[in-house]
Amino acid sequence: MNRILVTNIGLLATPEGRHARGGAAQGRIRFLKDAWVLCENGRIAAVGTGEPPIEEARRIDAAGCLVTPGLVDAHTHLIFGGWRQNELALKLRGVSYLEILAAGGGILSTVKATREATEDELFDKACDALDEMLELGVTTAEAKSGYGLDLETELKQLRVIRRLDEEHPMDLAATFLGAHALPPEYKDDREGYLRLLCEEAIPKVAEEKLAEFCDVFCERGVFTAEESRRILEAGRRYGLIPKIHADEIEPIGGSQLTKEVGAISAEHLIVCPSEGIEAMAAAGTVACCLPATSFYLGSTYAPVRDMVRAGVPVALASDFNPGSCPSLNLQFVMNLGCLRYRMTPEEMLTGVTLNAAAAIHRAESIGSIETGKLADLVVWDAPDLDTLGYRMGSNLTRIVIKKGKVQGGRLRGLFE
Ligand code: NIG
Ligand code: FE
Repeated sequence: MNRILVTNIGLLATPEGRHARGGAAQGRIRFLKDAWVLCENGRIAAVGTGEPPIEEARRIDAAGCLVTPGLVDAHTHLIFGGWRQNELALKLRGVSYLEILAAGGGILSTVKATREATEDELFDKACDALDEMLELGVTTAEAKSGYGLDLETELKQLRVIRRLDEEHPMDLAATFLGAHALPPEYKDDREGYLRLLCEEAIPKVAEEKLAEFCDVFCERGVFTAEESRRILEAGRRYGLIPKIHADEIEPIGGSQLTKEVGAISAEHLIVCPSEGIEAMAAAGTVACCLPATSFYLGSTYAPVRDMVRAGVPVALASDFNPGSCPSLNLQFVMNLGCLRYRMTPEEMLTGVTLNAAAAIHRAESIGSIETGKLADLVVWDAPDLDTLGYRMGSNLTRIVIKKGKVQGGRLRGLFE
């Protein structure tokens, strides 16, 4: 049996439960002083305070520091060819995100680079990104396709995600996002592309079990609410759980769709109207908010306080992608969660752990430090939770534990 005992935890902080937490419950965190966690075969076997049990176990000394669940990044566009640093100058000259896309750049230039890349090149590049994420405390991530926009390249991206899930310590949840933009070949044939998605791509993705979720970029100039509904319903018929990029730039009805299609999460929600908040509250949808994208786009921030007030569970994620958020740093997202969304550190912690796990249908197995869940833990260079919202720009992880094994953090070398 593989046993580790994390001892000398100054403060253990975790949300509790196997479901998303909304409203006041989002801010309810269990704090244990002077704690220990026993892990067996990659799962949490016991949690306690005071004298740790005398077990045959490898000891990991947390040196009086803060321990939280491993972070969950519930929204990334991990697999892409190239970067888009050339867009910075355009942005600085005032050209907007949607203008760049309408001119054939933006997402479409990443599509070109992703189509040209081999599966191995995409794998190696994403592998480096996952290494970095793990160092920053992320132990599970979601990853989307959406830079192929043809059957072959979408499947190529999803196969890379599957291979990464198998070969990298990080656990990945795959999302099919063929509806990320209209590909150039279908510029004058929207209906043709919608049929390709609904009648060919979705059945194929489902048949090969390459994704759990289906997502749509519901945005002015991209896919309408009606088209989004059609795609998500097609996905549902094949067992893909709906997610939706909604209200990122213009509110065209995406968040209101969540209730009708039974979306597990809605993403962005920067300009989410009150009707959208009501729909999400009624549907139990997780609002997956992406503050580093607001930061990078220079836009406003999602109305997270209104969401919490309405009882909508809020998750925080990176949105890592080459266009609207070229950062995978979830610690920066945590800073912005507190400083821009005005979340308390407790709400923020639930947002990057349990609610993020719920957004990817994994709240049963990750997102909190509780017996039976996976032994995914972070020991922080911090004495308390406030420090995680407060310190900026440094990587504060000491030890990152994934399924009971030390996989990252500044002190990783001591435990290898
Ligand atoms: O979530 N909004 C749509 N998709 C990404 C951006 C993708 C890109 O610009 O490459 C997002 O922001
Ligand atoms: Fe996104």
